[in-house]
Amino acid sequence: MATLGIIGGTGLTQLKGLTITRSEAVKTPYGKPSAPLVHGRINAVDVVFLARHGEKHSIPPHRVNYRANLFALREAGVEDVIAVAAVGGIREDMAPGVIALPEQIIDYTWGRKHTFFEDELETVTHIDFTTPYCETLRGRLLAASQACHVAVIDGGVYGATQGPRLETAAEIDRMQRDGCTLVGMTGMPEAALARELGLCYASCAVVANRAAGRGDGEISMEDIESTLHKAMGQVGVLLAGFMKINE
Ligand code: HPA
Repeated sequence: MATLGIIGGTGLTQLKGLTITRSEAVKTPYGKPSAPLVHGRINAVDVVFLARHGEKHSIPPHRVNYRANLFALREAGVEDVIAVAAVGGIREDMAPGVIALPEQIIDYTWGRKHTFFEDELETVTHIDFTTPYCETLRGRLLAASQACHVAVIDGGVYGATQGPRLETAAEIDRMQRDGCTLVGMTGMPEAALARELGLCYASCAVVANRAAGRGDGEISMEDIESTLHKAMGQVGVLLAGFMKINE
């Protein structure tokens, strides 16, 4: 199997079970990625791990250099990218602790560097983004979840918001009317940039909290962190299972 890139989000700044061979601080024409690329192996699979919010979890979603991150992964020989991301659950069954493999995206972000196709172009380029996640990789993750008995929800519509603040209840109402079932702050432009680079990209979305107005009262960082802490164990099992069936 080709080298697998894993982008870790909130709650996943390190990857358990990864035998690290080297850590590499790289530069790209788009600037520096969020963190050094951590090269290693899980089972027999070559993995490059990148902490989206930095090693110390200090880069907020709107300041992540998504272009540098994706470009650096591709330069490292990565073809498939599994992006782990904390999300809020909008639909009832997207409850805290649930892992979902979303299949669609609605982008509400603004002002982010969201394309590689803007400067020094020979011709204007529009990528197809009908199916924003790589269905092959999503299918392989689904197969892994069945093989290693980690429950996941197959599908979901990821609404990408600007952050770093959480949403208002009315914003979530609107997103639900639009068809969103999950809300997060990092899914875009990450997915689109991966597609522009020809990477096969899928998301493993971990529900950290019920979205604004969908739970009881305020959303606290403590609740988010404790839910993620528990759920990331399951993500680790899923990723290990994925490596096992793909080695
Ligand atoms: N909204 C946006 N992003 C998030 C949330 C949320 O409720 N929870 C975790 N990431």
